Amino acid sequence: MFQAGIVAWATCIAEILAAAVAATAVIDGIGVNWGTLMSHPMDPAMVVQMLKGNRINQVKLFDADPWIVNALAGTGIEVMLAIPNDHLGDMGSNYENAKEWVKQNVIKYDHKDGVHIKYVAVGNEPFLKSYKGSFTSTTFPALKNIQKALDEAGVGNRIKATIPQNADIYSSPVNNSVPSAGNFRKDIRALMTKIVRYLHSKGSPFVVNIYPYLSLYQDPNFPVDFAFFDGKSQPVVDEGLHNYTNVFDANYDTLVWSLRKAGVPNMKIIVGEVGWPTDGDENANTKLAKRFYDGFLKKMAGQVGTPLRPGKMEVYLFGLIDEDMKSVVPGNFERHWGIFTYDGRPKFATDFTGKVTERYLIGATGVQYLAERWCVLDEKAAKKKLKLIPSSVNYACSTGDCTPLGYGSSCEGLSLWGNISYAFNAYFQTMDQDVRACDFQGLGKITTANLSQGRCLFPVQIVSAGERAVTVSLVVVAVAATMLL
Ligand SMILES: *[C@@H]1O[C@H](CO)[C@@H](O)[C@H](O)[C@H]1NC(C)=O
Ligand SMILES: *[C@@H]1O[C@H](CO)[C@@H](O)[C@H](O)[C@H]1NC(C)=O
Ligand SMILES: *[C@@H]1O[C@H](CO)[C@@H](O)[C@H](O)[C@H]1NC(C)=O
Ligand SMILES: *[C@@H]1O[C@H](CO)[C@@H](O)[C@H](O)[C@H]1NC(C)=O
Repeated sequence: MFQAGIVAWATCIAEILAAAVAATAVIDGIGVNWGTLMSHPMDPAMVVQMLKGNRINQVKLFDADPWIVNALAGTGIEVMLAIPNDHLGDMGSNYENAKEWVKQNVIKYDHKDGVHIKYVAVGNEPFLKSYKGSFTSTTFPALKNIQKALDEAGVGNRIKATIPQNADIYSSPVNNSVPSAGNFRKDIRALMTKIVRYLHSKGSPFVVNIYPYLSLYQDPNFPVDFAFFDGKSQPVVDEGLHNYTNVFDANYDTLVWSLRKAGVPNMKIIVGEVGWPTDGDENANTKLAKRFYDGFLKKMAGQVGTPLRPGKMEVYLFGLIDEDMKSVVPGNFERHWGIFTYDGRPKFATDFTGKVTERYLIGATGVQYLAERWCVLDEKAAKKKLKLIPSSVNYACSTGDCTPLGYGSSCEGLSLWGNISYAFNAYFQTMDQDVRACDFQGLGKITTANLSQGRCLFPVQIVSAGERAVTVSLVVVAVAATMLL
């Protein structure tokens, strides 16, 4: 009786708390990018719980993996599915392929209790300069085929195909360039004009990824304050028009100008990716990420918009969870874009009501970890086998994530022993703590002592969810094997 009373009270209090959370309105128009390039992905159902707990109602995916898509069924969360760049050729060259893709990945879920699919992203940043034109001829035909398949299936009025583009397809507003000088890059200008007119005729949005962090990372002369929203920066004056105090607005309005010049001044714009990484570079840390998100979310909540497009904006934050398998070709920060850590913990105080508070987002619950043990360098063995260390570290870091060891990163200050141990442990955890993965020609040793210090976390991996993860680690083994040859 007494017990039951307590339970009833606890339930009642929980309900009151839930109602209090629900009463604070979450900013309208904020979604997240859910990337899955992880050695140990969390259970999608758990991730969906996080989304619901934080009342995030829009997600953008990088493929249409049924494992993830099924977890979103019945939630009402709006979904942007994606077709990776590698498939653009197939989709563009043969309408039957596009039709089949739409049938398998869209129509299958288009029912009551199904998935609320709203957009299909055809490719991801296909015209990025560094792709050197690989997808220039295939993207537009693929877009048209997918939209045609959506139209013919009778869902084209509510599900739109579009192409997420990198902001490098138009001139960037630094180095004395102003938004009103904006236009699409010369090499793709004619093509972009056709694409935006097509998208506009179909009522589809233009999706653009804007990264103030990258502006700062790529240009040593970039004024730091201009990357943020606190108005501390010397404004960029677009003569007789507007003054810009942050690069996000300037970049967005450069796109608006480019669209005007292409004949579609009223085109709807969605920001497909925007965010700030927290490790892997001197400007990638939780302090600056918090500064960025605080300013950005406040701006979103106030529906400030940009000088040329005041009002509500639709954006997808990048990203939801850290991805330890992302390519680091663009930089070590690539694996640290998550607002949540690999195990679903919020990294810094931020909340989606747009009020700058010290409150944290709701993390994952029920995450299971591997055993509390780490792999480190055995100092005794090291004395005898000094010469074997460099190759062992290289081997460990070709698979394990060693990005926190670099300049300006969270584990930069470690001793040489700590550094080597970090690398060994990164590999050991990635390989699910297999004892053979802590051999390193006799240099490795398993310990139960937690070496984490300050910002530097020696991780213990989580129990990976599902088959998909197995596939990823097989790929890892294959890649590691190739690197040894
Ligand atoms: C801006 O100018 C500096 C110095 O001339 C140059 O190094 C940098 O690459 C330029 N940045 C961009 C984004 O063009
Ligand atoms: C922009 O700033 C300049 C000074 O830098 C000022 O003279 C001008 O009035 C400002 N324009 C607007 C539209 O705020
Ligand atoms: C630690 O490792 C990183 C990357 O492997 C390297 O750049 C750095 O110089 C190392 N630090 C020490 C103290 O050896
Ligand atoms: C190791 O220590 C860090 C703090 O220094 C802590 O955040 C982490 O949870 C610890 N790991 C385990 C598995 O106890």
